[in-house]
Amino acid sequence: MKAIHIHGRGGPEHLVYEDAPQPRSGPGAVLVRVQAAGVIAPELTWEETYQTRAGAPRSLPIPGHDISGVVVEVGSDVANLAVGDEVYGLIAFERDGAAAEYAIALPGELAPRPRTLDYVQAAAVPLTALTAWQAFFDHAELKAGQKVLIHGAAGGVGVFAVQLAHWVGANVIATASARNHDFLRELGADEIIDYTTTRFEQVVRDVDVVLDMVGGDTLERSYGALKKGGVLVSVAMPPSPEKAKEHGVRSVWFIVEPNRDQLIQISELIDGGQIRPIIDTVFPLSQARQAYEQRVKRGKIVLRVVDQGEA
Ligand SMILES: NC(=O)c1ccc[n+]([C@@H]2O[C@H](COP(=O)([O-])OP(=O)(O)OC[C@H]3O[C@@H](n4cnc5c(N)ncnc54)[C@H](OP(=O)(O)O)[C@@H]3O)[C@@H](O)[C@H]2O)c1
Repeated sequence: MKAIHIHGRGGPEHLVYEDAPQPRSGPGAVLVRVQAAGVIAPELTWEETYQTRAGAPRSLPIPGHDISGVVVEVGSDVANLAVGDEVYGLIAFERDGAAAEYAIALPGELAPRPRTLDYVQAAAVPLTALTAWQAFFDHAELKAGQKVLIHGAAGGVGVFAVQLAHWVGANVIATASARNHDFLRELGADEIIDYTTTRFEQVVRDVDVVLDMVGGDTLERSYGALKKGGVLVSVAMPPSPEKAKEHGVRSVWFIVEPNRDQLIQISELIDGGQIRPIIDTVFPLSQARQAYEQRVKRGKIVLRVVDQGEA
């Protein structure tokens, strides 16, 4: 099969489109004919990409852990999937991803593809939507009527964060550059701050939850925007527990995990028209290097593995 291999640590210059052995589904796993894979540019710097869960080095890892495709082989001990199932999901980071014609996934990583999305749109969902879901509902317990500040709102995670916070009935304040303001209003943001001209902590006070996708100085200045007892969740970099204590807030850092049940709930919201993926650009698999080099302007970059004509 054709696949993208990571030939060395660093950046997209180490990505190579080449032949790879086709994997086979072992016990408890399925083989998926990949239709599309989501680009997760930072994964090229993550430890998990270069070693197994047990700590052994991985040679020539395959990136792209967002997957959409069709199950073509089912290993023993798999009860809830069958050959021909159309699926999407998030493959754990310490195993090979989906930037390839075939990929191995575990049943707990996959859910039926949303009815209303094609494969490319479906591959834009899992990592970003699950990150926003887990941030709000597993870690921050966001509720209707609360005020939430979302940094990096126009990015991959941000577009789902804005829509999910709006869906749950929160008051949504988003940071983005001016060209994304109308777009974010359409997604459900109530107030938008242009981070290039305004210091958000001077105009936003007493929020219940901050969700930070930016890190650095943005994370540092976020403590002051929270009310006492509020929650600062960052997925960009770990917040300081000492600083959180000083400000009387709770801080959370987590790494998103595959979750079939949450994906099923996300599919229901997509098929019900409450939330939708935003595609930045689509590249063919052979141009993965360009796809990983491109800076996101809005939403998610996706690799198309099978041409629609072939599907
Ligand atoms: N821990 C985890 O499990 C986890 C999971 C997913 C992602 N992440 C991390 O989360 C971060 C975001 O990922 P992503 O894929 O959502 O990002 P992304 O799509 O690359 O984000 C790009 C967006 O960031 C916005 N942006 C840049 N600087 C900003 C600032 N100072 N204030 C507000 N917005 C700013 C830009 O908005 P404008 O165009 O409006 O300027 C752009 O649209 C990355 O660091 C990623 O590694 C972590």
